[in-house]
Amino acid sequence: MNMVITNRQSGTNVYEVAEGIYRINTPVVMDAGPGGFSFNQYLILDDEPLLFHTGPRKMFPLVREAVASIIPVEQLRYVGFSHLEADECGSLNEWLAVAPQSSPLCGTVAALVSINDMADRLPHALADGELLSLGKHSVRWFDTPHLPHAWECGFLMEEKTRTLLCGDLFTQPGNDHPAITESDILGPSEAFRQQMDYFSHTKNVRAMLEKLAAAKPTTLACMHGSAWRGDGAKLLRDLADELSL
Ligand SMILES: [Fe+2]
Ligand SMILES: [Fe+2]
Repeated sequence: MNMVITNRQSGTNVYEVAEGIYRINTPVVMDAGPGGFSFNQYLILDDEPLLFHTGPRKMFPLVREAVASIIPVEQLRYVGFSHLEADECGSLNEWLAVAPQSSPLCGTVAALVSINDMADRLPHALADGELLSLGKHSVRWFDTPHLPHAWECGFLMEEKTRTLLCGDLFTQPGNDHPAITESDILGPSEAFRQQMDYFSHTKNVRAMLEKLAAAKPTTLACMHGSAWRGDGAKLLRDLADELSL
């Protein structure tokens, strides 16, 4: 599939980055911080469709319009996210309202600390290493406390396409990226980390990145910037090296 613009004004667009996995991208200009930036959500199309990241609450109409260009929004079954932040789950309750059969999908810490209370329906909480079938696709949750930030942080690995939904890892600034790239994203994301210091300085980085590398992803579905295709295990280990310097 080619890139489809779903909103002319905002430039919100949709592109299939792996089989049945759609990147929804909205470019923005921020007054403070990086200037040009982008927010991505990922829709896994299957018997039980999953949206990973809701996008910021104020972006809900744009993300809803983009999802609706692929499936009727009420068909969503899971609304997942990595950790508690506006771009991760700001419109969680809006999604639960428009998709009445959907549940929040998160790790056990997020459920215990926040989502059991904040969400309008109880979450489906996944333990570290737990697998959830969506039909042809299945996703495995990995706890990564404080990597890159937030105690409740974790990521989902889609096993059929070997796509790691890697949230804020490899965050690239700018608002004009290809939907998917095979060129370097570590350099730009490391330059951005130096500038914004959004990593938590946890001492357990290497073990957690090694856990993700062992899943051998071939697509990294980043929340900010391009998705990436290549030897994901190597790139995760390269990131561990950078973070240990
Ligand atoms: Fe974050
Ligand atoms: Fe983010």
